[in-house]
Amino acid sequence: MQTNPCSPVGVFDSGMGGISVLKQLRIQLPHEDFLYFGDGIHAPYGVRPTEEIRALTTAATERLLSQGAKAIVLACNTATSAAAASLRERYPDVPIVGLEPALKPAALSATYPTVVVMATPLTLKEEKFTLLTRRFADTCRIITLPAPALVPLVEQGKMGTQEARDVLAALFAPYEKEEIDCVVLGCTHFPFLQRDLRAVLGDKVRFYDGAQGAARQTRTLLERGGLLNPQTTPGVIRFENSDPEKLPLMERLMDFEI
Ligand code: DGL
Repeated sequence: MQTNPCSPVGVFDSGMGGISVLKQLRIQLPHEDFLYFGDGIHAPYGVRPTEEIRALTTAATERLLSQGAKAIVLACNTATSAAAASLRERYPDVPIVGLEPALKPAALSATYPTVVVMATPLTLKEEKFTLLTRRFADTCRIITLPAPALVPLVEQGKMGTQEARDVLAALFAPYEKEEIDCVVLGCTHFPFLQRDLRAVLGDKVRFYDGAQGAARQTRTLLERGGLLNPQTTPGVIRFENSDPEKLPLMERLMDFEI
């Protein structure tokens, strides 16, 4: 267990999606160093069985800890659903932050709004999500929308393309007649497609994702553990990917305006 405040925070996702969380981490924790690992050769995770995702997430966490990470951010709703509980049991002394679909702020944003929750099939079928929806079932109308096809679009850097907009239009076609108030981006890849979603859904829809909340929680846990980095210069980010060909796109996504 690494208890040195000068150590980096480990951030993990199946691929590029967690960079949408890393952007918020960087804003809220500018003096932290980050070690980001994307498991590109195994992405997408969201269509795999729970056991397999748990094993991949555990291996990724071990990798980050063995490289000296002082805390772990599972910047992936799918990995969180499959593995956060078992990882917290396995590493009780390591601060572990997970992601979950930001249903709460969407549900409370109006009187009984219609909320579409987009996520991977795995996230939507796990108990964690069932419990979450139960909490807000009386507060809003929830439509769940599994969207595994969006993950490869982001992994291939296809944001802003006609292909991306066609895929999104087809996904929302069955809801054409619905008055959608909110869309919860329950997969960390999806914020990169927010502008394409807006082009398809129009200006009135409000979007919610869990990145800010996860960054706040990371800050709280680091503070509580006396693990905030004391350096006063901007922290550095190191990217690693099990598919090294993805590294240039990872760097580009860090500058991509969401
Ligand atoms: N970015 C991940 C999430 O938040 C999952 C993408 C995948 O299916 O690999 O759920």
